[in-house]
Amino acid sequence: MTKRVVTLAHYYTQPEVQQMADKVGDSLELSLYAQEAEADIIVFAGVRFMAETAKILNPKARVILPDADSTCSLVTQTDVTQLAKWRNSYPDHVHVSYINSSAEHKALSDWIVTSRNVDDVIAELYSQGKKVIFSPDRNMGAYLNFQYGYDMPLWSAVCEVHDKFNETALNEAIGAVDAAHLIAHPESPLPVLQRAEYVGSTSGMLNWVKGYQGETKDVIFVATEDGILYNMRMARPDLDLRQAPIYAGCQCNSCPYMKLNNVEAVKRAQDGIGLEIDYLTTEQMAAARVPIERMLAFSQRYLA
Ligand code: 13P
Ligand code: SF4
Repeated sequence: MTKRVVTLAHYYTQPEVQQMADKVGDSLELSLYAQEAEADIIVFAGVRFMAETAKILNPKARVILPDADSTCSLVTQTDVTQLAKWRNSYPDHVHVSYINSSAEHKALSDWIVTSRNVDDVIAELYSQGKKVIFSPDRNMGAYLNFQYGYDMPLWSAVCEVHDKFNETALNEAIGAVDAAHLIAHPESPLPVLQRAEYVGSTSGMLNWVKGYQGETKDVIFVATEDGILYNMRMARPDLDLRQAPIYAGCQCNSCPYMKLNNVEAVKRAQDGIGLEIDYLTTEQMAAARVPIERMLAFSQRYLA
C-alpha cells in the first residue's frame, strides 16, 4: 500500500515549496492540520519546533523535517535549565509560552500560545485573576505588557529576523512616500509595533491585506519575514506591498532556517529522507501535549 504523505508549509517558505504543500498556514493552522492529518508521513516545511509539535499531536505519523538545521533563534537562545529555575521562581504564576519553543520548554509551561491567540489566552487568564509569566519572546511580551497594561515578567529571547526591524529605517521609508500603512508581526520590537495599525500573526496580516479597502496608491509596509509577501501579492496584486526596512533602502529580511526548506530538500523528505522527529520520549511528548491541547481547545473559535 502506498504511504500517505502530507506536506505542510509555513508562509515563510519559498513560493515553490508552498506550491508543493497540501496545506500552507500559520503555526496554529498547521498544528491543527497535523493533529487531524490521516498520514503515514508528515513532511513539515517549517522549522524544528513546528515539526516537534506535529509529532506531539500526531504521534502515530512519521514526521520529517527536510533539513535538520531548521531551528529558530527563540529556541536556541533559551537554556531550558535556566528557564526551569526562572519558572520555579514564580510559583504562584501561570507560565504561558509561545509555541516557538522546544518540547522540553513546552513541558515546563501551563499554556502554549501562538501569535494568533496570545492576546486572548492571556486576557482570559487575567480576567480570572491569575498572574502570568511569559516566555520566550521578549518583544512579544513587551508588546502585551504595553498594549494591555500587564506586568508579566518576561523571559529574554528574540526572533533574530523580526528583531532587526527598526524605527529609524521605518521612519525614513514612511517619510519617503506620500501615504503609508504599517502592519507587523508581534515578534518585532516595541517601537515598531507601537507604530503599526495592525499587529498579528502571519494569517492575521494576510487577512488584513485581503480585506484592505483603503487607497490602492498607498504603500503598505509589512514588518515580517519576506516569504509571506508572495501570499499577499497573490491575494492583492493591486496593492503596493513592501517589506519594512531593516536599514535604509533594504527590504531584505529573511529567515535563514525557513529558507533551508528548498524544493530538493522537501522532495527528499517526501521520500522519507530528512530529520525524523523520533527522539522525543513518550513522557516528554505527553508532558508537552497538555499545554498545547489546552490552547487548541481554546482556539477552535478562531478557525471557523
Ligand atoms: P505565525 O504563527 O504567526 O505564523 O508565526 C510563526 C513564526 O515563526 C513567526 O516568526
Ligand atoms: Fe524563528 Fe524568527 Fe525564523 Fe520565525 S522568523 S522561525 S521566530 S527565527
